[in-house]
Amino acid sequence: MKVFGICGSPRHGGTDYAVNYALNLLKEKGCETRYFHVRGKDIKFCIHCDYCVREQKGCVHKDALAEFYEGMMWADGIVIGTPCYQGMLSGQTKVLMDRVRAIAAKDPDVLKGKIGMGIAVGGDRAGGQEIALQQIHEFYVISEMIPAGGGSFGANLGGALWSQDKGAEGIAADEYGLKTVRKTVKRFYGLMEKTRGNSDG
Ligand SMILES: Cc1cc2nc3c(=O)[nH]c(=O)nc-3n(C[C@H](O)[C@H](O)[C@H](O)COP(=O)(O)O)c2cc1C
Repeated sequence: MKVFGICGSPRHGGTDYAVNYALNLLKEKGCETRYFHVRGKDIKFCIHCDYCVREQKGCVHKDALAEFYEGMMWADGIVIGTPCYQGMLSGQTKVLMDRVRAIAAKDPDVLKGKIGMGIAVGGDRAGGQEIALQQIHEFYVISEMIPAGGGSFGANLGGALWSQDKGAEGIAADEYGLKTVRKTVKRFYGLMEKTRGNSDG
């Protein structure tokens, strides 16, 4: 099974660490993985020009998102990781979601039935992680994907982590938060197995 991991932080920090933690667990389960990081990339806003709707040829912008689009189409499952900014997801993560309109305009079923999980990293223990996770899930639902939670006792909506503003080092030390990632990966993988496991791919 193919999993595409996305990091919506402009740094090699805690979100990068947490998404790769999830991808490594999935690799151990036999998944093939790809990773997209927004850091240092030229990524333009959606400008609502409707080129994608009119022309059905993808996005009018020819920027760093070609690799992102490919990954989204290729994957059976998608892991979106975002830092919490002002109590919600990062602007970079939101731009990626907006820009999905370009591939959905060409093929409305492009993400249909894929499994999605979310990871949110805050400098505070309760700094908007659940809101950010809900925003990721809303994107999945709107895209006709199937959102995976991690179950009760910590990971209800997905991976919720606390960096204490110490980036990767803070997340490596957040055992409670990493457990929420492990729990969510387990359910995410289970859902992929159920929906994809018996198909030819
Ligand atoms: C613009 C901005 C807004 C932030 N707002 C919040 C917030 O509302 N809640 C929170 O817990 N942390 C907030 N933080 C801290 C980051 O979420 C935290 O440092 C996180 O580890 C950043 O992710 P990264 O390590 O992957 O870069 C904010 C950071 C920035 C730059």
